[in-house]
Amino acid sequence: PLEEGWAPICTRKYQGFWIPQRALPGIMDMQQNFKARPDDLWVLSYPKSGTTWLKALTYATMTRAQYPFDHHPLLRRNPHECVPFLDRTYSLGQPSEIEAMPSPRILNTHLPYSLLPHTIKSLDCKVIYVCRDPKDVLVSRWYFNNGMRPQPMEPIPFTKAFEMFCEGNCPYGPIWEHVLEYWEESQRRPEKVLFLKYEEILEDPLRIVKRLAEFMGCPFSPEEEKEGVVEEVIQLCSFDNLKSLEVNKTGKLHPDFVQTNDSLFRKGGAGDWRNHMSPEMARKLDRITEQKLEGSGLTLNGVD
Ligand code: A3P
Repeated sequence: PLEEGWAPICTRKYQGFWIPQRALPGIMDMQQNFKARPDDLWVLSYPKSGTTWLKALTYATMTRAQYPFDHHPLLRRNPHECVPFLDRTYSLGQPSEIEAMPSPRILNTHLPYSLLPHTIKSLDCKVIYVCRDPKDVLVSRWYFNNGMRPQPMEPIPFTKAFEMFCEGNCPYGPIWEHVLEYWEESQRRPEKVLFLKYEEILEDPLRIVKRLAEFMGCPFSPEEEKEGVVEEVIQLCSFDNLKSLEVNKTGKLHPDFVQTNDSLFRKGGAGDWRNHMSPEMARKLDRITEQKLEGSGLTLNGVD
């Protein structure tokens, strides 16, 4: 039976996490049948934590020698086309597209670590995870979902979304368990799991992109650094640049969604929760986050 999930996306509790019901059969198929390759690189996240940005940054970093920046595929293709979202690919029954991709592939899922297909773990694939202040994740999600609702449906009030989020009831939630699984894995195997925060990329993109490249095994050479290649990657993937591109203004995220690609680029930045939450709400959510992360060594309160 269906438990009440996050409207308008019906979710179902599956192995401890609220998974969008429409994606569940595809996800189960992926868990059983996905064949990893040792040089696959995974971009992983809790939804609305900066996935699109990280996809663009990893893709631009990996392909920087292949394409000049003024003719780069990211100028013509949405980052989600360059780095496919497997939950969607499998739910559309198109895994052959992934099998046909040349190596090295950059792939994405929103699954928590415990639900990843086994071959990713047995082949020890590299994983990059991005997390974000849960307060901003919630606000971003709220806008995204309201934009996605079928037209007759009323927007979900923010207070209702807040309550559900605090209970962990949000697609791929609870967020804290999701983040913690990857955090713990990154502590155990830092050479294979790179754990990033959206806010630290905002604060110092130069340092993070260099770290990304090192982790991916394609560090920037001193010549590249001198020539400003790192800055070019950052510029290509910047919020303003991606948002302004024609490809990201048109096109649909999913054939069934009303939302177009521009819904991926809303505001960008940290701290928009201040415009949506009362101080009490923010304190409540922060308290839950602190309790959930207690003893882990991780903090998630973004900018204060
Ligand atoms: P906001 O809704 O707060 O603006 P995801 O890609 O995981 O769905 O996350 C979406 C969030 O990342 C949105 O946040 C979006 O605006 C922001 N974002 C997308 N591209 C970005 C970029 N290049 N730089 C910074 N933020 C970006």
